[in-house]
Amino acid sequence: MAGHWMAAKWEKSLKGVPGWLTIEEARLLHHLAARQHPAGICVEVGAYQGRSAIAMASALPEGHRLLSVDTFAGSPEHQPGESHFDPTTLDIAGSVDTLAAFLHNTGRAGLSTRVEPWRMTSTEAAGRVAGKVALLFLDADHSYAAVSADIAAWRRHLHPGAIVVLHDVGDWEGPTRCAADLLAQGFTRVDQAGSALALRPTPA
Ligand SMILES: C[S@@+](CC[C@H](N)C(=O)[O-])C[C@H]1O[C@@H](n2cnc3c(N)ncnc32)[C@H](O)[C@@H]1O
Repeated sequence: MAGHWMAAKWEKSLKGVPGWLTIEEARLLHHLAARQHPAGICVEVGAYQGRSAIAMASALPEGHRLLSVDTFAGSPEHQPGESHFDPTTLDIAGSVDTLAAFLHNTGRAGLSTRVEPWRMTSTEAAGRVAGKVALLFLDADHSYAAVSADIAAWRRHLHPGAIVVLHDVGDWEGPTRCAADLLAQGFTRVDQAGSALALRPTPA
């Protein structure tokens, strides 16, 4: 219909899912997952309640799964009293736990068979993953030390044609400085939506 734009089904599934990923950023991730999955695994580090998982997993065909790595215990800013704390994320013991919300939200989007949640730290997951990573979305702890550690841990798994997406570039110190580091090391800019910057390693 002229003048009307029909939101895709996966975009409608984002409605009501808490998080900070904008629709433009979600569309970029969806597009990159659709493009990259034939070359290897799609991974997100930092899943929270499922926004980025819905964006990426909905682009995968039957038989492919997004690897969603998260402690599901929240980043420093998600803890009680901190800037991004949400009281609904507390479990019965008073700890932040977003795994149930992640499973609920991805399930409601019809994506239970397209996501594989790994409840562990980024570095633990990087030590266990088998196979080449074609798309790596980094959106976990935003300190410079943590993002640097994520990149160091996952780098050796990257397919030569992989794409690395950093979220919160320009907004948080860690991703912003790490993006500058990667560009200085020869990574090239592929695309950007909002604070999500997509980079590609220099071909060997
Ligand atoms: C900003 S949220 C992720 C948002 C998510 N990508 C979305 O689209 O809604 C950051 C997440 O990173 C997780 N996290 C923080 N440090 C981590 C670590 N070292 N390893 C794994 N997950 C971590 C937190 O538990 C939190 O759920």
